[in-house]
Amino acid sequence: MKKLFGVIGDPIAHSMSPVMHNDAFAQLDIDGAYHPFHVKADDLAAAVHGMKAIGVEGFNVTIPHKAAIIPLLDHVDPLARAIGAVNTVVRENGSWTGYNTDGAGFVRGLQEAYGGPLEEKRVLVIGAGGAARAIYYTLASEKVSRIDIANRTLEKAASLAESCPYPITGAVLTTEEAEKQLGEYDIIIQTTSIGMSPLIEECPVSMENVKQGAFVSDIIYNPLETKLLNEAKKRGARIQSGLKMFVYQGALAFEKWTGTAPDIHRMEEIVLQQLGGKYVNN
Ligand code: ATR
Repeated sequence: MKKLFGVIGDPIAHSMSPVMHNDAFAQLDIDGAYHPFHVKADDLAAAVHGMKAIGVEGFNVTIPHKAAIIPLLDHVDPLARAIGAVNTVVRENGSWTGYNTDGAGFVRGLQEAYGGPLEEKRVLVIGAGGAARAIYYTLASEKVSRIDIANRTLEKAASLAESCPYPITGAVLTTEEAEKQLGEYDIIIQTTSIGMSPLIEECPVSMENVKQGAFVSDIIYNPLETKLLNEAKKRGARIQSGLKMFVYQGALAFEKWTGTAPDIHRMEEIVLQQLGGKYVNN
């Protein structure tokens, strides 16, 4: 019988996950189908229970349900609980277990592009929202021992760092302080939505002082090259868009559901095609 998967969110119409996962099922000869479901906040509990009742095998969770779904699940992975957000739900022995593959997806993509070990690198995270939390905690869980964090609202960055359940040290900075000492960092990770289409001329932190050869990663993938990445590139930094994070979070979810690793490069091409067709306007 066909195995059913999906993604729940509001809005959901533009999700690129269905095409990416359905192509992977076809490639791997897995009899599965992945569908986008438009679920309003008030209907979340009914949707989660209903999907269990009709035998859905697993699903992704996106805005605005990533935190709200936690109390509705039977089990939650410790890292996802610490992050406070679930993006992947898996049916395990008839019950729902929640995971967060956003942070792990980002770290996989970073490791692949960066090459060497990350442990001793000077790392700066820009932003202190949900995406920053996933990335910061996952890096900390993977033994990166020092991460500085900069945010427009200093208290939010301080509270994110203080709540980290893994051993970590690092400074909490205003964006102005981060701009001044930007040349100290080997890896800079932009996690806010600033610079995303249509506001593509915005940039949360000036890249003027970035070190030549530093690695700058932006979680935004529309446009693929944000103003921040463009500024960093002009100053000799290596750059990475958010496409890898998106593709790897999906690949890690797919692996949890099926036990099979999909072809990551093909997934990336499928998403690139979709982006080229509909979303990139830079
Ligand atoms: P998400 O959960 O998607 O990461 P979020 O929780 O709304 O989103 O967090 C958004 C991040 O973008 C925060 O770091 C926010 O900074 P504040 O904590 O100061 O609000 C940052 N952000 C949003 N708008 C911004 C702006 N105009 N300039 C600088 N930072 C901004």
